[in-house]
Amino acid sequence: MNEKDIVWKIPLFDLNFDVREKNAVNRVLDRAWLTMGPENIAFENKFSEFCGSPYCLSVNSCTAALHLAVVCSGIGPGDEVIVPSLTFVATANAIRYAGATPVFADVISAGIPLIDPESIVNVITPKTKAIIIVHYAGYPCDMDAILAITKRYNLKLIEDCAHSPGAKWKGKDTGTFGDFGCFSFFSNKNMSMGEGGAITTNSEENFQKCKFMRSHGMTTLTLDRHKGHSYTYDVVAAGYNYRLDEMRAAIGLVQLEKLPQSNALRKDAILYYRKALSGTPIEVPFVNYQNACGVDHIMPVFLADGVIREQVMAYMKSLGIQTSIHYPCIHQFTDFTGYSHTPLPVTENLSSRVLTLPLFPGLTSVQIDMVVDALLGGIHAQKNF
Ligand SMILES: Cc1ncc(COP(=O)(O)O)c(C=O)c1O
Repeated sequence: MNEKDIVWKIPLFDLNFDVREKNAVNRVLDRAWLTMGPENIAFENKFSEFCGSPYCLSVNSCTAALHLAVVCSGIGPGDEVIVPSLTFVATANAIRYAGATPVFADVISAGIPLIDPESIVNVITPKTKAIIIVHYAGYPCDMDAILAITKRYNLKLIEDCAHSPGAKWKGKDTGTFGDFGCFSFFSNKNMSMGEGGAITTNSEENFQKCKFMRSHGMTTLTLDRHKGHSYTYDVVAAGYNYRLDEMRAAIGLVQLEKLPQSNALRKDAILYYRKALSGTPIEVPFVNYQNACGVDHIMPVFLADGVIREQVMAYMKSLGIQTSIHYPCIHQFTDFTGYSHTPLPVTENLSSRVLTLPLFPGLTSVQIDMVVDALLGGIHAQKNF
């Protein structure tokens, strides 16, 4: 069967769209104002209220948010930025876009596959300007330890919150601890727009910088000129076009309303998975992670050393169950071979063993049982397991 013909019995992810998202898009089409208008303003206000962040800007991806955060932190050629390697490549690429150098730190363990504060300290040099942390799988990093490091070494902090809208560390939202929080609303995220993102900050100065840079470094908006509020504009920086269109912002408003319920449904599914997998040789992360209220973006598990992951994935695929890998480590990608790094044994081990199981709001306990049976069946089908 051709890959594109596969209809998954249990997909890795499924959208929770209904007539409300359709109505939201139609509202924009009826208004016939397609970019940077009332939907974006409403979305920014609602999202900053949701996270408890004083400032929020909508952008067209988390990658754009990360790039803006790096540039607006004043990072450039000659600077180093510490980042985990167990993340999506966009986290490290944002550093490279600015001409700076990503420096990889290790993660803690299979139980807590988040950036290791001790490893961060080990790779700090006089060139280090910032740390980008990733709240992997929707679980906050140890913010007490991270903030102690940024304070002690006077470093900027950027939070990659692509997985973590609504996640809290000791009751405070991810995206409100650092200089910038960067969110993704890509299709498969906890909130889906297709493509989309947001950047949060506690600082008005950072907010204004990001606002200019989001739209070509221009001092006035198209909407203001359209409404006759201004006739012309100045350009005060070499900015980008990182604007979010109104259709996506309107979808985002609906998705944000659904988020608490959909995060709760994800949590139910995760708890069911944990029960179903207990007593098996599969390692499940975050089971005993204190202080963190995660939002369960994905369901990564770690297979025992020696299990041939690709065979397990093929077996599960033959039963119509889609799986993935979060993540191949960045420092082993061809385009990153030029970057030297200290040994990253935990990252390399976890990356070779990780398997991502289906997770989305509405995944049923019957489906989870099928996934777990298929996973164990795929392992047992291999000799010696
Ligand atoms: C951890 C992480 N950071 C950044 C991104 C980039 O997000 P976007 O696709 O919105 O640019 C992703 C997307 O998958 C991600 O998972």
